[in-house]
Amino acid sequence: MNMNNISLIGFMGSGKTSVGKELAKLLPDMELIDLDSYIEAMSGRTIPEIFETEGEAAFREMEKTALEDIFLTGELTGSSYILSLGGGTVTSEACRRMIRRNSTCFYLKASIDTLVSNLETWPGDRPMLKGGKSLRSRVEELMTTRGPIYEKTAHHIIKVDGNDYLAAAVDIVSLP
Ligand code: S3P
Repeated sequence: MNMNNISLIGFMGSGKTSVGKELAKLLPDMELIDLDSYIEAMSGRTIPEIFETEGEAAFREMEKTALEDIFLTGELTGSSYILSLGGGTVTSEACRRMIRRNSTCFYLKASIDTLVSNLETWPGDRPMLKGGKSLRSRVEELMTTRGPIYEKTAHHIIKVDGNDYLAAAVDIVSLP
């Protein structure tokens, strides 16, 4: 159990990766891990490939295994991590428990408008947003179930509507 680990949760497009990078500059002794990149390296496949060939449930299992690996490695080596998690990592109860026990968890909370605007600007390749629905209605639909989960999983909530990721990182390191 290492509560010095920092984990960032929040919806796709909330800025987890960007805030993680800003935090890594402010906290040079900590190692930055982006869970999606870790899984891609671990599996030798991209996230969209994993969703396409094995489906969402298999990807959620991979997220759980990756988190187990990371936290165990941290325990064994005495390393502390800044973890940018995936937008859906906390939909699994096992992941939620691991995250709360092994890190101080921050929810990067953005409004639907901010999320939609960021996802329009930086669409990426996000399997969870594919399908017939408009981007806004898909974001609203997922946020209806995920919003309360982010809130209850996080130890702290950081508002990120201005997209000022440095300010968010400073808020995080300034907490007592
Ligand atoms: C997902 C979010 C993605 C990635 C995968 C599933 C989700 O990460 O893990 O496509 O279910 O919200 P980002 O939040 O970094 O886009």
